[in-house]
Amino acid sequence: MDSFLIRGGNRLKGTVQISGSKNSALPIMAACLMAEGKSTLKGVPRLSDIDSMSKLLGELGCHVYRHEPADDRDGDGPALNGPLDIVVTDERMCEARYEIVRTMRASICVLGPLLAKRKRAIVSIPGGCAIGDRPVDLHVRGLQKLGATFRTENGNIVGEVHGRLRGCRMYLGGAQGPTVLGTINVMSAATLAEGETVLVGAACEPEVVDCANMLNKMGARIRGQGTPEIHIEGVESLVGCEHRVIPDRIECGTFMLAAAITNGELELKRCNLDHLIAVTDRLEEVGVRVERENGTVFVSSARRLNPVEMTTQPYPGFPTDLQAQLMALLCLADGMSVITERIFPDRFLHVGELNRMGARIRKEGATAVIQGVKELQGANVMASDLRASAALVLAGLVARGTTRLDRVYHIDRGYEKIEEKLAAVGADIERVKE
Ligand code: EPZ
Repeated sequence: MDSFLIRGGNRLKGTVQISGSKNSALPIMAACLMAEGKSTLKGVPRLSDIDSMSKLLGELGCHVYRHEPADDRDGDGPALNGPLDIVVTDERMCEARYEIVRTMRASICVLGPLLAKRKRAIVSIPGGCAIGDRPVDLHVRGLQKLGATFRTENGNIVGEVHGRLRGCRMYLGGAQGPTVLGTINVMSAATLAEGETVLVGAACEPEVVDCANMLNKMGARIRGQGTPEIHIEGVESLVGCEHRVIPDRIECGTFMLAAAITNGELELKRCNLDHLIAVTDRLEEVGVRVERENGTVFVSSARRLNPVEMTTQPYPGFPTDLQAQLMALLCLADGMSVITERIFPDRFLHVGELNRMGARIRKEGATAVIQGVKELQGANVMASDLRASAALVLAGLVARGTTRLDRVYHIDRGYEKIEEKLAAVGADIERVKE
């Protein structure tokens, strides 16, 4: 298991290329299970979660091929990743095994596409994870309303469809609001259902919109994506298409916070600030300057950081996937900040680790009260999940002394070459192989 050694104190300055979105690419790759012919996806980041999805699609009879990087450079930036081709060559396999699902919960995205196209799916039930209980009842309920039947067998969800799925009008929200992957799963399946499906209470995240846009290129008839009511007119078949995934808004937000916490100046290329409006709002309140010009964002920070209140919410609210990273910044604000987690109320494993670095954070239920301190100190800390790890990297960048972050495989799941990108703009960070 690799670790990061971070010697804090350097101001970050320079240009960072933002990668394509992991959370867009994963369900889009799964949706390719429904297409005839070849699909070519561009901008898919090189991450271990993408490798896991490629492996899963391979087990489900797809040929997945990554092209060499094109010599399509943007200034001094790295070459773009080569496109990813996905072709379905064998439709007999229908099982997402525990060994893969346990490493990547997004494996659940194959449930809807398999049921719609192959009429059968066996998907290992994803257990809880470091960010809390993560049920899939809304996925199952939505697909049941389309006519699929389910049973559980030896830790698996076994779903079947007799004939064809049938469109209907349904409410898809749950106790914590809409579900992102649940919306994508049911929306994807409904593209091949008979008649019209209306999803009320759908998630509005940009990743849902990206997947709907890709499905429409394949011949689906989806409208209303990006609003809480999505209409899907079922079609007989889908054909492979070419699609570029959207920029990763969470990676972009993480680098915005990296600029802010190091009192630095970063130019972030290939990103879409429209997807980060709530994040920009909070950062400006803290005292961070955010400016944009076409697809480039300039972030610079004042020395004094104001405390703020923030509650995570479904899109377009502040994303839960940037909660931990904002908390790292607020550890150094001049006063008391309050963060409330509304999506995953237990997503606070970073609190104990940040406190070990000298932060003063008190947790009360789903709320954390952060009393700003003058400085953080380097320590040996442990990554517990992807975004918590990113928060600890940010804290390490500004801490006095050296921070050793263990178990960085969590970060490799979702940040493409994070240590190389940070080192290129002045961070003192190195990967230590065990
Ligand atoms: C997606 O997970 C993302 N994952 C998560 O990012 C992200 O944190 C989350 O959306 C929220 O934005 C991917 O896209 C691969 P949800 P998802 O269903 O879709 C409850 C990261 O760090 N719920 O929108 O699984 C659920 O418990 C990851 O990149 C049910 O009750 O999240 C939560 O409280 C972590 N029943 C709320 O809904 C269900 O069937 C929203 O979860 C499904 C969800």
